[in-house]
Amino acid sequence: MRPSPTGDPAGQPAGRTAGGSRGSRVKSPEQLVAESGGDLEGHGLRRTMGLFQLVCFGVGAIVGTGIFVGLSDSVAEAGPAVVVSFLLAAATCVVTAFAFAELGSAIPVSGSSYSFAYATLGEPTAFLVGWCLLLEYGVSVSAVAVGWGQYLNELLESLVGARLPEALSAPPGDGGVVNVPAVVVIGLAAVLLVRGVRESARATAVMAVVKIAVLVLFCAIAFTAFEAGNLAPFAAHGVAGITSGASIAFFSYIGFDAVTTAGEEVRDPRRNVPLAVLICIGAVTVLYCLVALAAVGALSADAVADQPAALSLIVNEVTGSSFGGGVIAFGAVVAIASVVLAVLYGQTRVLMSMSRDGLVPRIFERVSPRTATPVANTWIVAVVFAIPAAVVPLEVVLNLTTIGTLAVMAVVNVAVIALRRRYPRLEAGFRAPLFPFVPALGVLLCLYLMWGTGGRTWAQFAVFLVVGAVVYVLYGRRHSRLAGGRGDRVRGRGGPGA
Ligand code: ALA
Repeated sequence: MRPSPTGDPAGQPAGRTAGGSRGSRVKSPEQLVAESGGDLEGHGLRRTMGLFQLVCFGVGAIVGTGIFVGLSDSVAEAGPAVVVSFLLAAATCVVTAFAFAELGSAIPVSGSSYSFAYATLGEPTAFLVGWCLLLEYGVSVSAVAVGWGQYLNELLESLVGARLPEALSAPPGDGGVVNVPAVVVIGLAAVLLVRGVRESARATAVMAVVKIAVLVLFCAIAFTAFEAGNLAPFAAHGVAGITSGASIAFFSYIGFDAVTTAGEEVRDPRRNVPLAVLICIGAVTVLYCLVALAAVGALSADAVADQPAALSLIVNEVTGSSFGGGVIAFGAVVAIASVVLAVLYGQTRVLMSMSRDGLVPRIFERVSPRTATPVANTWIVAVVFAIPAAVVPLEVVLNLTTIGTLAVMAVVNVAVIALRRRYPRLEAGFRAPLFPFVPALGVLLCLYLMWGTGGRTWAQFAVFLVVGAVVYVLYGRRHSRLAGGRGDRVRGRGGPGA
């Protein structure tokens, strides 16, 4: 597939090119690429990332609060079989990664699952996917930042023997007043992102290397104390425990799809985007399983379960000194900060795509000519999601992030089936194997893990979806450029990014 040579996002009203249909409001892959600028001329974003940077970016988006904070919660549910929980969560992600890889190679534009849904399932579904991405990216910025604040306190304690006052480091529901560190890390990430993706990618690459090194160091230390007897009884809480453990473990994998949100800033995206997604998910799965095995093998599952900063605790126990725990805390602070950076980036790019389509206000698509980044967009997202980071307990935002992300992934698996049916001759650098069984399996696995999040989370999610549907009907549908709404007429006058 090539961008349409006649594609002219400024002069050609959307919905008029091949595949765009007013009735179903589906946007063709050619149109999406053409609107993104094709070779990016005139659009403002720059192709600065290669494969290595992209893999670092992916690892930066994935490895964070989930493994450093959430591992002990998964162990509490599954016992030593937590490794199986991680494999189950990984299977869901690997299968879905195939769908992401095919879609990302066929439609290499910013916006990720939102754009994929627009091209295959139509505008209302795309809007709801974009809406759910507010949970996967926006709300998870809040969740991950809260985890960062906790580890910053651990690090301070090991360095200077003092912690921040509870009132300034925890939300009201968790015994504090406001979580200042969580707000600070979001602010720092926003500053990096508005300075430009090259700087951000460099910073992310350094952080990705540090966090992998720290987890490898953890494994090296913990495996010296490995005792096979600690793995018995293996499935201590049965299949139900493994399932709940997998739903919690899933959070540790969230973020691999952020790679596909960078489609417009990657060199040779048809090769590099799918390759980076699969490399990231494979490497992280191996790393997580080793960390989980080392953790429950070094100490018993009961000793690890529900422990805060469990990885630091294990290292301290094994080495008999608190120095190692401090190193792990440092790694967690670095790891989680890079997740905040990558996830915040993903949210701004999704909103940029939705803004181009007229589904959210135009301010989100404006790119600064000086920095070539969406400055206003970045600051709006940072300020809006700093608020829940400051005042909402971690558990609430974590569960909503998980169910929203799983819903998006289920749709992505459906979207790859729809892509092949709707555009049978479309070129893709990568094809999902065993089609359509693999994407169908992906849908089932996503629903299975969603089921494991529990009734209260489902109820909150249902309310969130209803609000999204109302916003679409009252704003998005009326302003949609694909339907020639107000956004389209504005674009016709000013061009993209105007
Ligand atoms: N996977 C990300 C984390 O664990 C969200 O922090």
